Amino acid sequence: MQVELYKMVFLLAVFALYCCSLHVKACNETLTYPSGVITSPNYPAFYNDSIYCTYELYSPFGYIINLRVEEVEFECCAVISDCDYLEIYNGSETTQYVDRFCSNGVRTYSSQQFFLVFRTDLQGGDIGFKMLYSWLSR
Ligand SMILES: *[C@@H]1O[C@H](CO)[C@@H](O)[C@H](O)[C@H]1NC(C)=O
Ligand SMILES: *[C@@H]1O[C@H](CO)[C@@H](O)[C@H](O)[C@H]1NC(C)=O
Ligand SMILES: *[C@@H]1O[C@H](CO)[C@@H](O)[C@H](O)[C@H]1NC(C)=O
Repeated sequence: MQVELYKMVFLLAVFALYCCSLHVKACNETLTYPSGVITSPNYPAFYNDSIYCTYELYSPFGYIINLRVEEVEFECCAVISDCDYLEIYNGSETTQYVDRFCSNGVRTYSSQQFFLVFRTDLQGGDIGFKMLYSWLSR
């Protein structure tokens, strides 16, 4: 009985590591899974007004994160920060700015750690974003 239990726990751990990617749809998440999909809250239905969501991505020693922004459909303004946007930072906080955008165009980034900010203003929405990430050994 005990052996069966250990076997099951072991298999579950292997499954989590290698089998599947995680789909994160919530706000303010830390992603410590080897690969996954992140979509804005409500995606593909419209996101809400006045939200501020952050996402932290970490990879273990010896790996880097390959982050691919696949789809971006936001309410966009001439001055990006006046409407809705996504920001990418290198590291675990908002010190090392990398990019800010509000409209489509596939983009890829790589780093050991990312900090992302998704921000929407008081009114006007769209379907939001979809990103894929995975750990690559370096
Ligand atoms: C969006 O707003 C609605 C209405 O206020 C709320 O019920 C819902 O939980 C919000 N969804 C998200 C993902 O914040
Ligand atoms: C996410 O975190 C921010 C603070 O960093 C907070 O203002 C916001 O309400 C949180 N969003 C949700 C949906 O919990
Ligand atoms: C993040 O910083 C590391 C270390 O300085 C660098 O190698 C990497 O290219 C940076 N990635 C991005 C997306 O700026």
